[in-house]
Amino acid sequence: SNNSDLILRLPKVELHVHIEGTLTPELRWKLAQRHGVPPRFGGTEADFESVQDLRKAHDNVVSSAQIRTPEQARTLVTFSQAYYSGFEYLKTKNDFFDLAMNYFQLAATMNVRYCEPFFDAQGHTSRGVAWEDMMEGFREAQERASGELNVHSSWIMCILRDQSPESAMDHYKEALRYKDMIIGIGLDSNELNRPPNLFEEVYTLARKDGFKITAHCDVGVEDTHEHIRQVASTIAGTGLDRLDHGLHVADERRLLELVAGRSVPMTICPWAYLRRETYDSIAERLRLLFDAGIKMCISSDSPVYMDESWVTHNLLLAQKMGGFTDAEMVQIARSAVDMSWAKPAVKKAID
Ligand code: ADE
Ligand code: ZN
Repeated sequence: SNNSDLILRLPKVELHVHIEGTLTPELRWKLAQRHGVPPRFGGTEADFESVQDLRKAHDNVVSSAQIRTPEQARTLVTFSQAYYSGFEYLKTKNDFFDLAMNYFQLAATMNVRYCEPFFDAQGHTSRGVAWEDMMEGFREAQERASGELNVHSSWIMCILRDQSPESAMDHYKEALRYKDMIIGIGLDSNELNRPPNLFEEVYTLARKDGFKITAHCDVGVEDTHEHIRQVASTIAGTGLDRLDHGLHVADERRLLELVAGRSVPMTICPWAYLRRETYDSIAERLRLLFDAGIKMCISSDSPVYMDESWVTHNLLLAQKMGGFTDAEMVQIARSAVDMSWAKPAVKKAID
């Protein structure tokens, strides 16, 4: 048995995956047909003649950090354009069911036993989608996956940080009605000049109401060290319950000690970072986080718009980058189970 065998067989937990980032070109094609609309794909005005053409376009999605010239800005499809262009195909309960079920089925093939997918409610309600259609579609898929695929889950509603704190609060209040299926409140989208502190009021309320709370602090973002500091120490009194990404923790001893000292677990998505930073810089930080004793969950982020790098690939990459032994990978997998917000019975079944 070699390394990849171990990673393939491992019962997995995935705690950083955007459900909208799992919309495959095949599913986008099917939904376009369902609604009688052209299968468009971010940025470009091109219409696609076949599902194969659509899939080829997915392989060329770039990170905005890779755009250097006006010509590139005109011709390349960025992650943001690609990701958000998929939203318009999600209209009915059936669409949300298909989106979630498609991910759960893929997750089952990768031996994912528990996951906490993010969803971007504001990106759907703003287009007139009814809460009931979105949530009941998710719920039906969640129940089917749990019963038929042995893939268990809880949802995390992400606040879009580029929208207003008022919009965040309105959506939070709606989410309360689905507290039986939503375990946590997160923070995603464009991070520039949008520190987590802007959403302090929602976070404080969410903790009081019994939700878990987390936030993205993505790589390569200006002010990320200050964002991490807020997440790890001040928001909602003592800081959040988890840190999504936060790789730059490893840049400063002060931050490393803060995160390790407060035992803030982190979700780490190696392939997403490799799209914008060098291999060595990521590898070095990964090892520093592990050696500091920080719990981490290796995850895929938005795999369809990141070269179809799913959780298994991210685990293999993490092992190579961090130079982790098989025993250390098992330790990482165990810490992912431990840091998850699964019910004790589910945790016990995976471990
Ligand atoms: N929404 C979906 N994927 C995201 C990412 N990687 N960063 C920020 N917001 C996102
Ligand atoms: Zn993310």
